[in-house]
Parts: sequence; C-alpha cells; structure tokens
Amino acid sequence: MLEKKLEHVAIIMDGNGRWAKERGLPHLKGHREGAETVRRVVEMSKEYGIKYLTLYAFSTENWKRDKEEVDGLMELLLEFLETQLVILQKNNVRLKAIGRLKELPQEVYEALMQVIEETAGNTDGTLVFALNYGGRAEIVDAARKLAEDVRAGEINSADIDENLFRQYLYAPEIPDPDLMIRTSGELRLSNFLLWELSYSELYVTDVYWPDFGRDDFSRAIDSYYGRDRRYGGRK
Ligand code: FPP
Repeated sequence: MLEKKLEHVAIIMDGNGRWAKERGLPHLKGHREGAETVRRVVEMSKEYGIKYLTLYAFSTENWKRDKEEVDGLMELLLEFLETQLVILQKNNVRLKAIGRLKELPQEVYEALMQVIEETAGNTDGTLVFALNYGGRAEIVDAARKLAEDVRAGEINSADIDENLFRQYLYAPEIPDPDLMIRTSGELRLSNFLLWELSYSELYVTDVYWPDFGRDDFSRAIDSYYGRDRRYGGRK
C-alpha cells in the first residue's frame, strides 16, 4: 500500500445558480454565499494541513454569462481580495493565481497582484485562484512559450518531455492535485487543470457549493484516504 499524502486539493465550485434558484433568489446571491464557502474552505484546509488549495473561480468560458453576472463576480472577487488579505496574513497563507490574468479587468488584476505580492513570503499554505483559466488555454500558452524558446535556440526540440513541458505551465512549482472535488453533481472536468489532474482522485458531491460545509469536506477527505492510488502501476 502506498503512503497517502493529501497535499493539494483542487475544487470546481459549482451550484451557486441552482442554490439561488431553489430559494427564489438572484443568481448573484448564490455567488455571494459561494464566496462565504470559499472563506470557510480556506480555514478548513489549513486545519487539515492541506498545503495547496486550488479553486476554479472564473473560467475562460464564464465571460459568456450575462454582463451583470460577470460584473458581479468581479466585484465579489475584489471584495474578497480586500477583506481576505488580513486573514491570509494571520494564517501565514500566500495567494497565487493561474490563468490569463492580464485579460482580467484592470482593477481586479491590480488588486490580485497586490495581495499576491504582500502574501508571497507566507509559508503555511498556498491558495491558488484559477481566474480566466482554461485547461486547454494553459496547454496552448505553454506550447507557444516553448515554441518561442525552441526558435530562440534555447531548447532543443528533441529534449521536450513531460517534465520539460510542465515547466511551461502556469505554476510548475505547485505539485499536481491529489484530490479534485466537484460540487453540485456534474461528472465533468469542465476544462479544469487538464494536465495536472491526470492522476488525481476525483470526488463529486451533489451538495451545492454555497452549502458545502465541514462535514462535506471531511467526507471528501475520508473518501480520498479510503482509496488506493496506483499511478497506473501495481501496488
Ligand atoms: C459556479 O456556479 C460557480 C462559478 C461560475 C464561479 C465561482 C464563484 C464563486 C464561488 C464566488 C466568488 C468567488 C470568489 C473566489 C470570491 P454556477 O453559477 O455555474 O451554478 P449553477 O451551475 O447552479 O448555475
């Protein structure tokens, strides 16, 4: 039996809309409750000793939603960045972000960079926001940078292997997720961390993200420890 570690948890936070609809509330109210769940999950991860927590906060596809919803999500993100800084500092957690960040609204981009900079020295944990993130976009961006380095003569194409390719992804220093949780029941990857999730355990719960609580998180973690990862080989 392999020794189990749970260092990195990645989450697709789904179901904010359905949560709101069932209550006759506007969609944005669901996102607002969802932001509260983000706060709770950051705390719980710290308690469980999880070193990396990656959250799918805004996908490259999310721009297609109503302008009002997109603006509301950006507003929530700004609020989160403003209010969470103290908490990240207190918990010694650093913030990172992956995605096509420069395409975010300027004030969101600047607030994000500021929190990333101010928390860069924190060492107890890493919260990673996937923002304007797409798994295919990440692989395409990596391929483009790698092609530029080959053209510049810095890399020999014969030397390209998985390890080298990985260095061109958005956050190569972060280990791949051990566990990926998706809330709200859908059995899809939705363009999330396509490269990084290759060997991750997947856990899907029907619970909507705004309702995702301590018990749900510990059930996901228990399920992880109850399974055995083999990386395609034998035990
Ligand atoms: C899916 O719900 C969730 C999102 C599109 C974005 C996640 C955003 C948050 C949790 C809130 C703000 C985040 C931060 C980091 C402060 P959905 O609207 O697709 O739900 P549905 O499928 O039920 O409609």
